[in-house]
Amino acid sequence: MTTVIDGEAVAADLRTEIADRVETLAESGVKPGLATVLMSTDPASETYVSMKQRDCEEVGIEGIHVEVDPDAPAETLYETIDDLNARDDVHGILVQLPVPDHVDKRTVLRRIDPEKDVDGFHPENVGRLVAGDPLFKPCTPHGVQKLLAAYDVETEGADAVVVGRSDIVGKPMANLLLQKAPGGNATVTVCHSRTTDLEARLEAADIVVAAAGLPEFVDGSMLKEGATVIDVGINRVEADTERGYELVGDVDYDSAKEVAGAITPVPGGVGPMTRAMLLYNTLMAASRQHDVDIDLP
Ligand code: GUN
Repeated sequence: MTTVIDGEAVAADLRTEIADRVETLAESGVKPGLATVLMSTDPASETYVSMKQRDCEEVGIEGIHVEVDPDAPAETLYETIDDLNARDDVHGILVQLPVPDHVDKRTVLRRIDPEKDVDGFHPENVGRLVAGDPLFKPCTPHGVQKLLAAYDVETEGADAVVVGRSDIVGKPMANLLLQKAPGGNATVTVCHSRTTDLEARLEAADIVVAAAGLPEFVDGSMLKEGATVIDVGINRVEADTERGYELVGDVDYDSAKEVAGAITPVPGGVGPMTRAMLLYNTLMAASRQHDVDIDLP
């Protein structure tokens, strides 16, 4: 029997624990605050940001939302970040990506105070992760790591294949699985669009993390019997539905489920964990900035 990994349930448990720690911080007069910054009219980005704000409310984190006109000069966004860096009630800052073409993404990521960088994308935090001394772990790969732990999937000594080399998911995922730490110690292969013979690498994988942004790219015929399959993809594909599209992952779920030992669905797998880890990082940021010790879940 294939286990369907229930990301909604694991994320709900984590949110309960986070809400509990938020109450502990309140005893010291601290209310964690997360600022989301949106410089886009992309409907998907708007939806993601509003979901993040809703999550904050659920666990007692103060959500602060700032919109920057997508046609404004880049400097307007940089100054917005400076203002948020300076605010004592803002512990975490997330600038929703992508930003418009006239804005330099690297400048945006560098401008955020590393202590408020709840995405974990500032070069200092990227460096700390690679060096084995992470502060804020990027939310999606951290969420995947928590999911694997929740389902007792052994990473130590496992052959893990990460499909995709993005800065947001693929690279930090590979680094986390490689860490000499719990949830790590895997033998990690990173595959991407120029990988030759992807099939041969997947065939040997105990754990597959699919994060290539390609609809149903990995199918059951490529997988080892009993593999754990984590699908990070959320792709809109045209479909005869009311919305005109449907959401599919990077894994062909039906064929993969026949072979996998455990698999995440889309939606309801990694997505809710990504959102929960943002709350987790915000909680951690607030506890650090006020020097109040809490037992992080
Ligand atoms: N756009 C898509 N994923 C992310 C993410 O994890 N963080 C931010 N800031 N923007 C995104």
